[in-house]
Amino acid sequence: METPQRNLALDLVRTTEAAALASARWLGKGEKKAGDEAAVSAMRLSFKALDLDGTVIIGEGEKDNAPMLYKGEKLGTASGPKVDVAVDPVEGTNLLAYGRPNAISVVGAAPSGSMFDPGPSYYMKKLVVGPEAKHAVDLDAPVGDNLKTIAAALGKEVGDLVVFVLDKPRHEQLVAEIRKAGARIQLHTDGDVAGALMAVDPDSEVDVMMGTGGTPEGVLAACAIRALGGEMLCRLDPQKENEKKALAESGVDLKRVLNVNALVANDDVFFAATGISGGAFLEGVKYTGKGASTHSLVIRGKTGTSRYIESRHNWDKLMRFSAVKYD
Ligand code: FBP
Repeated sequence: METPQRNLALDLVRTTEAAALASARWLGKGEKKAGDEAAVSAMRLSFKALDLDGTVIIGEGEKDNAPMLYKGEKLGTASGPKVDVAVDPVEGTNLLAYGRPNAISVVGAAPSGSMFDPGPSYYMKKLVVGPEAKHAVDLDAPVGDNLKTIAAALGKEVGDLVVFVLDKPRHEQLVAEIRKAGARIQLHTDGDVAGALMAVDPDSEVDVMMGTGGTPEGVLAACAIRALGGEMLCRLDPQKENEKKALAESGVDLKRVLNVNALVANDDVFFAATGISGGAFLEGVKYTGKGASTHSLVIRGKTGTSRYIESRHNWDKLMRFSAVKYD
């Protein structure tokens, strides 16, 4: 037996809080890049205080076009556990820029070498369910068949189910098939990390997430799903010509079905997310004049513990020394 060990996610949440506090100032201002930049620099600064030896596997892109939090960048003081890190300082940059719900700041960490590296892949097809339906899904089965087996596993009728789908032209047929099967749909313009997490949360209205979204976002969501015990089945699904070409050259198997354990190959995984714009998933940042409040979700894979943290931030104290101007 072990004595309780450090829960890295309780440290990581400080980085997502910092990113959310800095970027929520840009809510609805139509400036996607400025909101993202505020989050990236606050998160990066906050990582400097953390005792970990991290390497970014999922970041803001390659070093040449991303000055910060780029793939391969080292994070932390280098004196703690050696971990792969996935970051998305603003997941849903358009949600933030246009003041829509469910923009979040999100981070995952897992033992070095255990996180799936997307390489040149931008998009993958995803099917996400919670623990009760984890054995009821097959990525290659017709949509209607999956919905029937999922409904049976959850003790519901197909008509009771809610499926989260990104509202994209590529999903026209998927939406038609879900409607034909009789299930209900939530269409969201962006934000399939929140969608995946709502699908595994038994308290949320969403039962399933289906469709094609970002590959990096898939790995981030997998950090939480691995910890919470649901399933995420995926297959690389290139959407753009340059992506198709790069994947063909890399020799990667486009037919392979990746499950959550292939995306994060270790149970000792950590996840933290903080709401920026607020929505059904997490409340957003509320500025009070004298400070702000944030709402976060913090998960540790080894124990399966998830915590919702409401934090009160005090400008009087924080602004005496903070390198980031939050007020
Ligand atoms: P960004 O924060 O990078 O804009 O991602 C938002 C998002 O909606 C993700 O949640 C999703 O996985 C991806 O974009 C879908 O990509 P696209 O909008 O190109 O279909």
